[in-house]
Amino acid sequence: MTGTRRTQVCIIGGGPSGLLLSHLLDRSGIDSIVLERHSRAYVLGRIRAGVLEAGSVALLKEAGLGARLETESFLHRGTYLSAQNRGFRIDFQKLTGKSITVYGQTEVTQDLYAARDDAGGVIIEEAEGATLHDLQTEAPYVTYLKGGTEYRIDCDFVAGCDGFHGVSRRSIPARVLKEHERVYPFGWLGILSQTPPASDELIYANHARGFALCSMRNENLSRYYIQTPLDHPPERWSDDAFWDELRRRIPADVAEALVTGPSIEKSMAPLRSYVAEPMRWGRLFLVGDAAHIVPPTGAKGLNLAISDVYYLHRALAERYDGDAHGIETYAETALARVWKATRFSWWFTTTMHRFPDQTDFDQHIQEAELAYLEHSKAAQTAMAEQYVGLPY
Ligand code: APR
Ligand code: PHB
Repeated sequence: MTGTRRTQVCIIGGGPSGLLLSHLLDRSGIDSIVLERHSRAYVLGRIRAGVLEAGSVALLKEAGLGARLETESFLHRGTYLSAQNRGFRIDFQKLTGKSITVYGQTEVTQDLYAARDDAGGVIIEEAEGATLHDLQTEAPYVTYLKGGTEYRIDCDFVAGCDGFHGVSRRSIPARVLKEHERVYPFGWLGILSQTPPASDELIYANHARGFALCSMRNENLSRYYIQTPLDHPPERWSDDAFWDELRRRIPADVAEALVTGPSIEKSMAPLRSYVAEPMRWGRLFLVGDAAHIVPPTGAKGLNLAISDVYYLHRALAERYDGDAHGIETYAETALARVWKATRFSWWFTTTMHRFPDQTDFDQHIQEAELAYLEHSKAAQTAMAEQYVGLPY
């Protein structure tokens, strides 16, 4: 064994959760080391959702991460929903006094890497085989391999920010870990194209042929999704077939004006709701996708990761000031918000998608739900306050 070092918080995973936690801890005078299995280029190559809740934006700005976010993002005061090719609008700003911000997760991650670099933060890339030890003691440690050599990090706490496929959650014994899951019987086929967006705001479309979403990154970069069966590989869909299917599902006037072009990325994502409990085991804390997954409908994934990080960094800062209450209640506090967002994204998914076993009755229920949303201020307010983000 060569190379043992010490830090206060060892962070497993250099995605948005791990990087933001490291950044916020640093601002509270707490040092950390981030261990990332992949290279930075790989992490930055992943395309994820692009919608930030008002609270996420406020937190990022307050943490000094707002420079590019301020100039390169797009404020959306509402969104469109569509039922059988007819759209209507939900006005977030009017209903809740808040808006959402369109800014890609890749951009957030890039800003976080830049901020960590500026502050001299330690991020160890291509760290393989991270293993968590003695988590139930006061002296946990993490071992990993890099370039064939084994290293050890001694720490006070371990933050499991390593996503759904990480090692942290699996370090909690099976007899302790409770998993709650719903797997949806369809996926989203997404494309990115260098074309102007179909609309000034996002369009979530329900259609008897299946769900569709029109989203965007900027004035000349659009992101579109269509619901497809899980066994459809992306290669099965030519660009033309994708555009034709999208047009069939979205409002007629939008379909007519849609500007299409070659896809520059095409990928398929399965949809699942998943929550693991507990989010704390001894000196291990789970954060973000390591503890929970939401389907992308409503774009809650990154926003939930940000609220987990907010709770945990505050709890750790208090703990180093002598007050352990926050870390004792972290799991409960974070999970309360996680379950509400899990419920919202389940509801939005269930309302907007075509299920393989869907009956005529089910279709009418969905249409009635959307008609109710279109005409009830109360229903719209409930949707809007969850979409813009529940308070921390
Ligand atoms: N050791 C070190 N790093 C690991 C390990 C491991 N054993 N396993 C996974 N990782 C890394 C991954 O390579 C990834 O970069 O942990 C990181 C986890 O990042 P994300 O999956 O992006 O998860 P998180 O940071 O919690 O961000 C949540 O990402 O998946 C979206 O919708 C989600 O937007 C949300 C956000
Ligand atoms: C996206 O732009 O990729 C996106 C937007 C909203 C969602 C999901 C994905 O609900």
